Amino acid sequence: MEKKPFFISTPIYYPSDSLHIGHAYCTTLADTIARYKRLAGYDVFFLTGSDEHGQKIERKAQENGVTPLEYVDKIVASFQNLWQKLNISNDDFIRTTSARHHAVVQDIFQKIYDKGDIYKSAYEGWYCTPCETFWVERQLNDGTCPDCGRPVEKVQEESYFFRLSKYQDRLLQYIEDNPEFIQPVSRRNEMVNFIKGGLDDLCVSRTTFDWGIPVPFDPKHVVYVWFDALTNYITAAGYLDDKEKFSRYWPADIHLVGKEIVRFHSIIWPIILMALGLELPKMVYGHGWLVVEGDKMSKSKGNVIDPVALIDEFGADAIRYFLLREITLGMDGNFSRDALINRINADLANDLGNLLHRTLNMIGRFNGGVIESPDACQPVDPIDETLISLANNTAMEYEKLMEKMDLNGAIKSVWVLISRANKYIDETGPWALAKDPAKKERLNTVLYNLVETLRIVAILISPFVPLTGPKIWEQLGLGLPFASTTLQDAQQWGGIPAGTVVSKPVPIFPRIEEKSDEIEASALPAKKQPKVEASPAPVGPEVTIDEFAKMDFRVAKVLAAEKVKGADKLLTLTVDLGSEQRTIVSGIAKHYTPEELVGQTVVMIVNLKPAKIRGIESRGMVLAASNDEKLALVTASGMLPGSKVK
Ligand code: MSP
Repeated sequence: MEKKPFFISTPIYYPSDSLHIGHAYCTTLADTIARYKRLAGYDVFFLTGSDEHGQKIERKAQENGVTPLEYVDKIVASFQNLWQKLNISNDDFIRTTSARHHAVVQDIFQKIYDKGDIYKSAYEGWYCTPCETFWVERQLNDGTCPDCGRPVEKVQEESYFFRLSKYQDRLLQYIEDNPEFIQPVSRRNEMVNFIKGGLDDLCVSRTTFDWGIPVPFDPKHVVYVWFDALTNYITAAGYLDDKEKFSRYWPADIHLVGKEIVRFHSIIWPIILMALGLELPKMVYGHGWLVVEGDKMSKSKGNVIDPVALIDEFGADAIRYFLLREITLGMDGNFSRDALINRINADLANDLGNLLHRTLNMIGRFNGGVIESPDACQPVDPIDETLISLANNTAMEYEKLMEKMDLNGAIKSVWVLISRANKYIDETGPWALAKDPAKKERLNTVLYNLVETLRIVAILISPFVPLTGPKIWEQLGLGLPFASTTLQDAQQWGGIPAGTVVSKPVPIFPRIEEKSDEIEASALPAKKQPKVEASPAPVGPEVTIDEFAKMDFRVAKVLAAEKVKGADKLLTLTVDLGSEQRTIVSGIAKHYTPEELVGQTVVMIVNLKPAKIRGIESRGMVLAASNDEKLALVTASGMLPGSKVK
């Protein structure tokens, strides 16, 4: 059967500086989706690249005493090195300084001009060079860039303008007709409001510097860097030089971008495409930002995290796993070294590493390394049934979650299966079975179920941790090249042929011992210093059942948590209530770290009158058991967000 095409892109990064862990996050997300789609049988075109023109780069090159091209060449090489180290599986890397791109930008500028949608006028306004963005006076924030807060510069020059205003209504209609187009919904609403506020025509050329693509019919102008950059997506898809490829992959399925550049992708880019008579991308997805220990990364704060150093220290898969597991797509997330080490030790070394190690070890010791067939004569034991049906459900559910872009939910669901399999070892006690020759058949069944679970796990985790899936595969002794496995292989129990010979276990994730005392101390403050229990408070005044029934308690899932600046007891939580997301401020910071909270299923009252706490509107309150010393959140693990608590 012919494979369906699927085109996903990352933004093209500015080679003004080396990339940091936030950029690596974005590309890792896109790579995971691309790898998943390949696993699911799609013909994927995954694009990334570099956005090399503009005033910012020109100035950087000047400061360094080199030509702009010399400047970017070096940095672009470092991007490519990073993507290689992170195992990014892009099919193309587009540079905006390439001849193929130059040709497309000039071609479409001319076409849109000929059509009358680009006209010459004069621009007078403000420009933020770091963001390469034009602003009018009313949009400024106390005279600074409303996006990044940095100073803006006055610009007054002859310019070509692009008639965004002409397409305003068509774009609104398109957004309304295509609810999937801008994701998540919160970004969509922002964009709709922005467009309804009125679109000004956009300045699309500059004359006060040279580092760009000349306007074909007026070469003292260079094309505005965002007009140039957005065009990369069709250049690489073959707009001018490969019509067949272009008709196969265009329109793009997903432009994955950071939240601050959704505006360019869901307003300027679609209007360029409309002016050209081309189809619009199916989805623009705005992901959140990665902050470091709660703070925005910046050179001046000295908190910029270099992904290359992290990969060298911990390995690419550990970094990828952390980013994908820790951060809910669409929300901001926090990077901390302690949280990273915790994840490596708890999830990768302990849960996954131990499952593999114990299983292979037992097969080696009890069966000489051979996977025997499960006992077909006995009825299926209920314990086995639980594991097998969880494995089957996980593989099905995983697909649904990935299709919904819930990467975080998908990887968590695989870890539920891993934990279940570890528990299965404890429940079935293979060591005891091995001592009794009469239980040999039962032992074979147990071991088979474990390797089979590991086979499924190896497939499902491979888009997330592409080195680890094949490593497990190899240790399980599975002959087929891992690259030829499919998602369907994970959805069918019983894929390992009896007689397969496993290899000796080799640890896939060594435990990181560094600073483990400090991590424990910060995560578990209450346990370190046992305190005398206070006597319980007296019972409160009686309430009627009707009074009680007024209070609406619900299960909520914590999607994100961060410290409230300047308040050491407070955390802001973003919670999912099934039908909506809310922000609440909770006084639990002394007892829980933000990392511990994300992913927890808690109980909260949802109809409490909203209150402003430290300027943040808190809509609801989580329930916790507490006395003077300790506090424990009331949790309802396994329940769906929004479920009623009575
Ligand atoms: N060159 C433009 C994009 C043009 S796309 C046609 C640009 N480049 S950038 O290098 O500044 O940013 C590239 C991407 O990195 C953006 O999507 C941005 O959101 C993302 N990130 C930058 N810092 C980030 C974090 N701290 N966290 C997550 N993503 C971050 O914008």
